[in-house]
Amino acid sequence: MSRVAVVTGGTRGIGAAISVALKSAGYRVAANYAGNDEKAKAFHEESGVPVFKWDVSNYEACGEGIAKVEAEIGPVEVLINNAGITRDAMFHKMTPQQWHEVVNTNLTGLFNMTHQVWNGMRDRSFGRVVNISSINGQKGQMGQANYSAAKAGDLGFTKALAQEGATKNITVNAICPGYIGTEMVLAVPEKVLSERIIPQIPVGRLGEPTEVARCVVFLVSDDAGFITGSTLTANGGQLLV
Ligand code: CAA
Repeated sequence: MSRVAVVTGGTRGIGAAISVALKSAGYRVAANYAGNDEKAKAFHEESGVPVFKWDVSNYEACGEGIAKVEAEIGPVEVLINNAGITRDAMFHKMTPQQWHEVVNTNLTGLFNMTHQVWNGMRDRSFGRVVNISSINGQKGQMGQANYSAAKAGDLGFTKALAQEGATKNITVNAICPGYIGTEMVLAVPEKVLSERIIPQIPVGRLGEPTEVARCVVFLVSDDAGFITGSTLTANGGQLLV
């Protein structure tokens, strides 16, 4: 029987590409989303991937959501923590709400989700967790004190959990995408994108969501069993670490 994979934020942007790539690789995929019913419906109709609505920043909602996925599809063996939001603002203008919304989704969301599936993975002695961090968690980004802090936190979470999961055949890895051509990046003011960001990318273009999705497919495969606690960067050469 094929493995069950949950992709948070799995109906749009990078997450949608991950859901589709995992389905194509033979996984039974559940795509989570938080708010945009219309996009989720369109994604489901186009891809055939079942969609489930809950907010990853809400611990109880994550528990209920995973219970529903497991009842309908099966025990979760692969978790892709992809859901993320931006509330960009220069720090002197950033509100506590902008800080908390980003940290609650982009960092605490990883705790909320992974905690629901961790014991099952331990009991079955198999698991794959991939956390989608960001180049901006590695290098920091002006206008993103909240986002950079949360995404850097995702890397610490990955490394700690990798050590805990290792003896149970659970791998935990992170991917740091650079600037990928999604709605999130295209929301950056055009002048900033074309004059400040793209010139910093040696390959001279934004990345494609599928280029991140292929990294995920590799990291969750049996072939990647010796890779844990690692950070895979996919950023067109913008930051060499
Ligand atoms: N890189 C370099 N310079 C930047 C910058 C960036 N990413 N963002 C802003 N700046 C510069 C602006 O060009 C401007 O410089 P000048 O005064 O010399 O023109 C200065 O910072 C102030 O910017 P604004 O005039 O735009 O100030 P604002 O208060 O109106 O808006 C902002 C600030 C909301 C941060 C806005 O500039 C913005 O959205 N910037 C983009 C921030 C960014 O890179 N976000 C990444 C989103 S994509 C993502 O998060 C996905 C991922 O993981 C990579």
